[in-house]
Amino acid sequence: MSLDGFVAGVDDNQNQPLGEGGEAIQGWLFSGDQPSRYNDFFKMSESNREVFDEFIPNTGAMVFGRRTFDIVNGWGGSHPISGIPIFVVTHEQPEHFQENDTPFTFVTDGVESALKQAIEVADGKNVVIGTPSIAQQCMKAGLLDVIQLHVSPLVLGNGVRLFDYIGDAPIKLESQQVTDGTDVVHLQYKVLY
Ligand SMILES: NC(=O)c1ccc[n+]([C@@H]2O[C@H](COP(=O)([O-])OP(=O)(O)OC[C@H]3O[C@@H](n4cnc5c(N)ncnc54)[C@H](OP(=O)(O)O)[C@@H]3O)[C@@H](O)[C@H]2O)c1
Repeated sequence: MSLDGFVAGVDDNQNQPLGEGGEAIQGWLFSGDQPSRYNDFFKMSESNREVFDEFIPNTGAMVFGRRTFDIVNGWGGSHPISGIPIFVVTHEQPEHFQENDTPFTFVTDGVESALKQAIEVADGKNVVIGTPSIAQQCMKAGLLDVIQLHVSPLVLGNGVRLFDYIGDAPIKLESQQVTDGTDVVHLQYKVLY
């Protein structure tokens, strides 16, 4: 996210998934010439690659909201972190979607159900919540164990906030990791509730 807490700029759509000026948020994924061991789409500096490559093998499933799925056109059926099952929380199953090497499950009975199914499939590995509205609902319901952030050197000013709609109650965190990457600071917190 940007330093001021946005994960996308204004006017996010299929032509600019991260909104106006938002592409720089993910600049760290293209910060060098080191491909991830798991994915050669992203080319990173060594410090960023180390963080990324630690994250991937520990991830057993991901949960996303339908807006992101639609904006990125379902990643053409193949999420850049290929093979990991993705659960999409939505009010309605899509009529059509592209299928390739990412197993998608559309969940229409809420975030807790999606999380439960993802935990089962992940088989002991981490379940990553990949989009703001789902992360917010999980935070509010006390369902997050860890918050992992990649903060880019950018003040965006407006757009889609990560920490929005999470209520008024303070949520205490314990700092677990701070890594100074290239064009990014990687942060990890344990959620104490
Ligand atoms: N910077 C990054 O790394 C990053 C990563 C991911 C996403 N993003 C950005 O985040 C933005 C999208 O985030 P967002 O928070 O607006 O949307 P989102 O989380 O991607 O999706 C929200 C949608 O999911 C469905 N949904 C959510 N909760 C639900 C529930 N409890 N029951 C049923 N359906 C539910 C609804 O869609 P329906 O009503 O249509 O079913 C809702 O409109 C985009 O700009 C995207 O590019 C950025």
